[in-house]
Parts: sequence; C-alpha cells; structure tokens
Amino acid sequence: MKNKKIIAFLATAVLVTSMFVGCGSKTATTGGNSATTATSKKIVIGFAQIGAESGWRDAETNSVKDIPKQNKDIELKFSDGQQKQENQIKAIRSFIAQKVDVIALAPVVESGWDTVLKEAKDAKIPVVLMDRTIKVSDESLYTTFIGSDFPLEGKNAAKFLTDKYGKTGKANIVELQGTVGSSAQVDRMAGFKAGIKDFPGLKIIKSQSGDFTRAKGKEVMEAFLKSDGKNIQVLYAHNDDMAMGAIQAIEEYGLKPGKDITIVSIDGIKDAFTAMSQGKTNCVVECNPLLGPQLAKVARDLNAGKTVDKWVKSSEGVFVGADQATKALPSRKY
Ligand code: AHR
Repeated sequence: MKNKKIIAFLATAVLVTSMFVGCGSKTATTGGNSATTATSKKIVIGFAQIGAESGWRDAETNSVKDIPKQNKDIELKFSDGQQKQENQIKAIRSFIAQKVDVIALAPVVESGWDTVLKEAKDAKIPVVLMDRTIKVSDESLYTTFIGSDFPLEGKNAAKFLTDKYGKTGKANIVELQGTVGSSAQVDRMAGFKAGIKDFPGLKIIKSQSGDFTRAKGKEVMEAFLKSDGKNIQVLYAHNDDMAMGAIQAIEEYGLKPGKDITIVSIDGIKDAFTAMSQGKTNCVVECNPLLGPQLAKVARDLNAGKTVDKWVKSSEGVFVGADQATKALPSRKY
C-alpha cells in the first residue's frame, strides 16, 4: 500500500514538471511564416525607431509594425525617439528591463552608443542595427546591420551627374545634407564627393543640412537661392523629402525644377516618382525602407541560436527621367 502511494506521487511529480518545462519552450518554426503552439513563447522584438522625419521613415515604421501581423510567433514593442538620441537610449534601457529577445535600433547618429549597447550585451540581448550604421569601439556590441550601402548611393547620385556632364561639362552644385552626424549624411556626402572628384567642372558651391525633412529642405533651398540664385545648376539632396521641399522653393523663386536646376535625390518615395514623371526632378537613387521581413528573419534565426551575417544588405536601383518614373510608379510600394 505504502509503495503504491509513493509510485502515484512520483508519477504526478513527473507530469507536473514536464508541464512547466513545456510552457517555457520557444516557438517551433516552419520556414517563412511560423507555426506557434498554444504553449509557445513569442519572440519579443523591441524597436527603437528614430522618429517620423520622412516618408521613407514612415514606410520603414509600417514595415516593422507589420511583423506581428505576418508572424504570429513574434511580438513587437515600438518606441518613437522623436529624432533624439537620448530618447532612443531610454527606449533601449526599457527594452533591457523588459527582457526582450532582440533589440532593433535605427540610430539617429553614428556615435555615443557604446555604454548602452554594452548594457544590452551584458544582458545577453542581441542588437540589430536598422538602416543606419554606428561607430563603436567594439564591433561585437551589435550583432548585425540590416540596410543599404550609403556610400554607394552617394556614388550613384554622382554617376548620374558625371554621365550627364562628362569630363568637360560645368555645373555648380548645392547639396542638402541629412541629419548631421548620421551615417546616412556622412556616407552619402563622402560617396558623392568621391564620385565627382575626377570631374573638375562639377563644383559643390553650398552644402547644408536640411535634417531629412521637407520643411527644412525648403527653408535651406530658399537660402541657397537667395544667395546664389541663377548660379545654381544642380541640387543633390540626401533624401527625397528635402528634394520635394526644395522643388517648392525653386518654383516659388520663379525657376523650373528639373529643367533650370537638375535634381538628384535618394530614397525612392512615391512623391519623388510622381515629381520625376512630371519632369520636376531628374534622378532617384533607391534606398529600400521595407526592412520588416529581414528583421523578422534575423530575430527568428538569432532566437534559434543561428549565426547571422554581420550585414544583411538591401538591393536597390537607380531611376532616371520621366519615362522610367511613369513606368515604375504603379508598382512603387512606398
Ligand atoms: O537612414 C535612412 C534615411 O533616413 C532616409 O534616406 C531618410 O529619408 C531617412 O530619414
């Protein structure tokens, strides 16, 4: 009798123990979209976004916010940094406190991340950089970077102009830079400079930040026009939104954007394609903001203990002129 009671007790203990082990187990994945069981634990991503400064940024936010809709095994915590690094740092600390599985960070500027990323590393939470790179003393402070080749985008913008003007052509260029200290600004500026360096007729006569916004792009272009007016032949803008603001400034000044002033910008938002189809801008270098699917895959791979590439590179194109814009417009996703 006593032995029977001991056997019954042990059997119950084994059953209860196995129930709790099951509750804590991670999701089982099946290729693209994953199958979750009632007892599986979701992968939690904390995303520290920069803000909402451009159409491109909104497209990236929407793409990341779509992750939980398309991946039932993933939960998203979202924070809008409102263009301030201190807000992004606070968000990262809060994600660490909440013990998320992966931290995704779109860093507003390149430097100043070492301390907080060390905290994430100590908490064993992998950090995935989204769309912009950073400068850190120790590369192991982030696990991977998902995004574009910014220096190449700058070079591609330059190539459009060197093809147009050739070795002997002359043009005065004004440049609208992105947010100062961001990798998008630093690298697009450097790539462009390198691209025109062997073309002495192409000169950057003014260069100032428009902070990646339409309003600032307009304001700075107004100032360029006021001081250099008809002396400007080309505008190079680090993003489409600033170019859209500049187009307004050029029209208000009484010149024709795309004709009197050749315009090349980066991103590929629908507004830029519409403007190019109307002949108001001339070249759009694409930069893909739809990074949600890559982030979901990376998060799932990391959660499964797999190694991921240090750079998950986006592939993108260059569009020139009204015909290409008109053709591409119906299929543009952002
Ligand atoms: O980091 C990518 C850049 O950030 C985009 O080109 C710009 O539009 C955005 O604000």
